[in-house]
Amino acid sequence: MKNYLQEKADKKQTIGFVPTMGALHEGHISLLNHANAQCDVSVVSIFVNPAQFNDPKDFSNYPRTKETDLAKLKTANCTAVFYPESPKEVYPANFKDVEIDFGILEQVMEGAHRPGHFKGVANVVSCLFNIVNPTKAFFGLKDYQQFAVIKTLVKQKAYPLELVGVETKRAASGLALSSRNALLSTNDKTIAANIYQALQEAKTCLIESGVEKAYSKAEELLKSIPNFKLEYFCIAEQETLKPIEKDVNKANLMFPRAFVAGFLGNVRLIDNLSLNN
Ligand code: PAF
Repeated sequence: MKNYLQEKADKKQTIGFVPTMGALHEGHISLLNHANAQCDVSVVSIFVNPAQFNDPKDFSNYPRTKETDLAKLKTANCTAVFYPESPKEVYPANFKDVEIDFGILEQVMEGAHRPGHFKGVANVVSCLFNIVNPTKAFFGLKDYQQFAVIKTLVKQKAYPLELVGVETKRAASGLALSSRNALLSTNDKTIAANIYQALQEAKTCLIESGVEKAYSKAEELLKSIPNFKLEYFCIAEQETLKPIEKDVNKANLMFPRAFVAGFLGNVRLIDNLSLNN
C-alpha cells in the first residue's frame, strides 16, 4: 500500500483517505464520494481495530461483512482498499503509543464511558496516516468526539494533511446510520429512531426555554424508549466539548451541541446534533 501510494504521490496525485472498520453503509459511501470529488485517488481502509474496544464482547460482535463491503466500494469507484488481515500489518513492530494529552476530550462522554477507547483510536489512526500519507482524511461527524480527538492528533503530531468532517447520514426515520445498526432488528431500528427525535426535542426546548428544559425533556424522552438504557445525555460546547451546566443562560451559549449514548438491547448507539437555530 505504501509503495503503491508513493507512486501516486510522486506523480503529484492527491490522496483522499477514508478509514473505516467495515460493515459499510451510506455514511461511509458519502465519505468516499467526498474523497473522490476532492482528490485524485481514494483509499478506504477496513480494519476492526482491537485496541479501541474497551469491551471484548463488543469487539467480537462487531459486524464483519468483507465481501459486501468490497462490492460497495467497487460500485462507488474507490481507487484502492487497504484490508489488513492482522494488526501486524498496521502497527509497526517497534510501535509506541502516541503520547498526547487529549485533556477534557478523554474525560467527558465517550472518553469517560469507554476508558482507553480514544487512545486506541489515536494509535491506529496515526499508524494508518503513516501508511497512507493522505492529502485529505475524511471522518463522519456522527463520531463527533472522535473527530475532535483526531483534530488534536493531527495538530499535535503536525500531520501534513487536511481533515474533513462530513455530516451524519440518516435513515428516513432520522436514525443515524452506523455499522452497529446491522446488529439491530427492523423493530429495533424503528425504536432507535426515537433517539434522534429526543435530540430534536432538545433543540426545540433549548431555543424556546433554555438549557435546563432541554436536558429534562431529552432525558425524559430517552428514558422512555423501550429497551433503551441511557448511558448519558449531554449538552456541550461544540468546539471544546466542555459540558454546559443546566443553569447557564441560553443567551450566553455560543455553539451548543447535544450528545447521547446508550444501549438498545446489547447494541451501543451514539448520536449528536447541533442545537443552534
Ligand atoms: O470511526 C471508525 O470507524 C474508527 O474509529 C476508525 C477511525 C476507523 C479507527 O479505527
